[in-house]
Amino acid sequence: MSQDRRAFLRNSGLGTSVLALGPLLAGAEAAAAAGTFDFETPLNRLGTDSVHWDQPLRDEKMSRIVAGMGVADMDFRCAPSIMTALAKRMQHQNWGYIDESAPGPEAFRQSIIDWNHRRHGITVMRQGNMGLSTGVHTSIAAALRAVAPPGSKVLMTTPMYGDFYADLVFTGTHPNESQMIYADGKYQIDWDDLERRMTPDTKAMILCNPQNPTGNVWTKAELTRIGELCLKHKIVVLSDEIHADFVTKGHKFTAFSTLDSKEVVANSITLSSANKSFSLPGLPIAWFFSTNPELFQRMAAQDRPDMNVLGLAAHQAVYSSGEQWLNQCVDYIDANHDFANQYIKANIPMLKVGRKPEGTYLVWLDAASVSEKIGAQASADAENKKSQPISRWTGKTTMVTSADIVGHWFARNAYVKLNPGTTYGKGAANCLRMNIATARPVLKAALDSMAGALKRLA
Ligand SMILES: Cc1ncc(COP(=O)(O)O)c(C=O)c1O
Repeated sequence: MSQDRRAFLRNSGLGTSVLALGPLLAGAEAAAAAGTFDFETPLNRLGTDSVHWDQPLRDEKMSRIVAGMGVADMDFRCAPSIMTALAKRMQHQNWGYIDESAPGPEAFRQSIIDWNHRRHGITVMRQGNMGLSTGVHTSIAAALRAVAPPGSKVLMTTPMYGDFYADLVFTGTHPNESQMIYADGKYQIDWDDLERRMTPDTKAMILCNPQNPTGNVWTKAELTRIGELCLKHKIVVLSDEIHADFVTKGHKFTAFSTLDSKEVVANSITLSSANKSFSLPGLPIAWFFSTNPELFQRMAAQDRPDMNVLGLAAHQAVYSSGEQWLNQCVDYIDANHDFANQYIKANIPMLKVGRKPEGTYLVWLDAASVSEKIGAQASADAENKKSQPISRWTGKTTMVTSADIVGHWFARNAYVKLNPGTTYGKGAANCLRMNIATARPVLKAALDSMAGALKRLA
């Protein structure tokens, strides 16, 4: 694909007048009426200042890009109901402050409650125990400020989503990392280690379910065991369920708040959003709730939602009429998981994948053989002799890792952007995260390109 921004804008209509919205809307309405949505036709996102496609071109100094497979947003055209709702709201031509207690936002909160009841069996969420925030990161930061004073520790099972480490830096808390055991093609909690780490200075546990990056969907038994241990050791569970809608066939998502013990549930705050399910992080809104009034009040006191009108319109639209699109999207991604898992096992022997992920749209790859082949550690050591910038994750000088070098290698030789394991904590060395929420032809082109680059290396 070309990186020529002006040509892209010309072709996409983004640089032309808003009248170009007419055909777009007609297309969205036709898709909604037909009830089938197109995930297969690639959408060109280049030239939109996206982290997913544009940032790697710049940061990795790529001459071209076959696929952005990094940051966790999706490449698809959005649910048509979003386009219709945005276009309707645009007609008003005024963007003043929103009254969050007005009937509109109240109905919106109710639609979130209904969605979670219908889809995830959550019965304990109410208008009075839930709040809105700008994003799940904002919520995590507010929750940490509420329950984990600066200097205290936050428990996580690793490898773990890297941006949590940034939330910890932001709140002056420290990671307490319980590395998972990899056995039989799957990550598993090291229960002895987890409990050993439940020390008096550990005040919160970030539980990620489905887990980013491993794709684990925790069972009811696992969640109950975590919940009981945390209750015993006075550690508040922050259950990040942002990937809840992405579960592959044969697996079942269990919301933490549906566990049997009221005490266990009351020792938790659940945080989630449609930002992931409908790929709306550019129009972000998130929500949180706790059945424990004291925990809820402490968290709410740290929360400053700052809603935006278009975000509200988009999120209202998906909770009320986005479910059909999402169901088809989840099925498409499930098939992408099958495709990627089989392709890598058959054609890319230098990359190891375990079992098909149980959830998320992420694939966690072990690239140790590639790292060894390209001498990534020696390159990282050489880089670290030069002066390096301060990391936003740790607040300390960045250390280049072998996973970074492997990531750069794929960017420059396969023209594919992957996330290096560097920021995913203990147990992520030489791993890469691949986002497969894209049209299958793009996924295939990326895997072909990666396989080809590795063949040339052999
Ligand atoms: C587990 C997890 N939590 C939170 C986020 C970020 O959520 P938000 O964009 O709502 O801040 C992500 C994004 O990738 C994520 O994977």
